Amino acid sequence: MTEQPTGADRRRGPFRAGDHVQLTDAKGRMHTIELVPGKQFHTHRGHIKHDDLIGAPDGTTVRNTTSVEYLAMRPLLSDYVMSMPRGAAVVYPKDAGQIITMADIFPGAAVVEAGVGSGALSMSLLRAIGDQGRLISIERREDFADIAKANARAFFGEDHPAWQVRIGDLQEELPLAVPEGSVDRVVLDMLAPWECLDAVNYALAPGGVLICYVATATQLSRVAEDIRAHGGFSEPAAWESMVRDWHLEGLAVRPAHRMHGHTGFLITTRRLAPGVTPPRRTRRPAKGSYDETQVSADETADDGVTKDTSDWEGADFGERPVSEKKIRRLRRAISAPPDEN
Ligand SMILES: C[S@@+](CC[C@H](N)C(=O)[O-])C[C@H]1O[C@@H](n2cnc3c(N)ncnc32)[C@H](O)[C@@H]1O
Repeated sequence: MTEQPTGADRRRGPFRAGDHVQLTDAKGRMHTIELVPGKQFHTHRGHIKHDDLIGAPDGTTVRNTTSVEYLAMRPLLSDYVMSMPRGAAVVYPKDAGQIITMADIFPGAAVVEAGVGSGALSMSLLRAIGDQGRLISIERREDFADIAKANARAFFGEDHPAWQVRIGDLQEELPLAVPEGSVDRVVLDMLAPWECLDAVNYALAPGGVLICYVATATQLSRVAEDIRAHGGFSEPAAWESMVRDWHLEGLAVRPAHRMHGHTGFLITTRRLAPGVTPPRRTRRPAKGSYDETQVSADETADDGVTKDTSDWEGADFGERPVSEKKIRRLRRAISAPPDEN
């Protein structure tokens, strides 16, 4: 039999010491525990012996000392990332899924990621590239990187062989970490991805994908414009995804009342071959779309005057201007007696 991919043996079979187990009570409350022989899990309503779970099949039920019943299951990766210790905010599973698919992360790929944060996205990337791939994750903060490494080790059961974590700023670290044009995919989850475009362009192979995850529309706009201005990338595409849970109870089958309305935006682009100029955009931008002095509240216009939001006009947001002639015609139409209409 061939050797199992890293972590696969921890995803199947009866519960073993060291496994994480998610306990769910009748009200849907969840607790995640790590199985340690001889240890007990206490709540205010009694306790469970870990030894009662070690050796039991995944998907079993267990009773505590006051007969409260819990369903015991191995957490999925999506459960695990939401309950693991966090230094920085994590990429939610819905966005990690989008990143894996839309950035075309494939088995054996050479991927660069920054920052690492708590390691949530790193784990999805590692699973997608597999043991034959290579993930270089760059993180400025050593303390965050330590948390991420511990989280991934706890999930995979060992240090993943495809993973290298480097401490530093991506702009300085990436050119030291990889030869030019050797990386298949780059994933950036950080405040200012536009600062990293030169380093990413150096590292990516022609045709390679850059995907950025940003939290605000201002970041999205900045990274899109800087990708275009760089000249070494294809026209970017951006989107967001919203996932709405559904309540399933008898005839009450409806969307849940609450949802995560916003997590972040994704934007992708691809590295052009060296010396290639992207085809000119045939769609003309709407008048005013590129007047930075007006759309950026904190930037100063050529005349040294900072424009505030009261100076903004519809054209600054891509609205089509309405001609004075059209307005006059409409006003005449609405003021004319009914029989003339
Ligand atoms: C939101 S967190 C990343 C979360 C991570 N993707 C996850 O799913 O757990 C952003 C991280 O980027 C790091 N960071 C920001 N700019 C960076 C840069 N230029 N180079 C390396 N790391 C950077 C920050 O220290 C922070 O830990």
